[in-house]
Amino acid sequence: MFTAAVITVSDKGSAGLREDTGGPLVCQMLKDAGYDVVYTSIIPDEQDQISAELIKTADELDIALTVTTGGTGFSPRDVTPEATIAVCQRMTPGIPEARRFESMKVTNRAMLSRSQAGIRGYTLIVNLPGSPKAIRENLAAVLPSLDHGLEMLRGEKRDCADDAK
Ligand code: MTE
Repeated sequence: MFTAAVITVSDKGSAGLREDTGGPLVCQMLKDAGYDVVYTSIIPDEQDQISAELIKTADELDIALTVTTGGTGFSPRDVTPEATIAVCQRMTPGIPEARRFESMKVTNRAMLSRSQAGIRGYTLIVNLPGSPKAIRENLAAVLPSLDHGLEMLRGEKRDCADDAK
């Protein structure tokens, strides 16, 4: 079982002006997929704060999978992708590509999410948009494949060449 952290990025949510429904939904989907969600937080759309939180889940807490929700659109306050790129050592573009590919079948607006994914140390960081609908559609598209990547990242399986028959 891999550990997971869920970080809600929302000015209104962090100020208590809006109920956070996205974070709990991500937690539930991860738990249903077998993850042990050991850390959650709600922070405002501040790049430095988002980066610091991502670093904490990777370097301090050694979380396997950190999922953020919110702050991936075009609003000037949407900086989750920039905060993610700033702390990742290796980007994993296939994850957002797969999410947008599947999401475009549902709504053309899927192209408007700038969400990223990447690796810091032994932690995979995945951005999701903020609305519950978008969370459901985006996470469902990639969740089944993430554990295989985490097995390679965390040393339980280093090479999948033998599987590819
Ligand atoms: N992806 C899916 N699958 N379903 C959606 O409804 N909404 C889009 C997009 N991705 C959506 C989606 C919209 S309208 C926006 S503006 C962006 O995600 C960014 O969302 P965010 O600002 O909440 O991160």
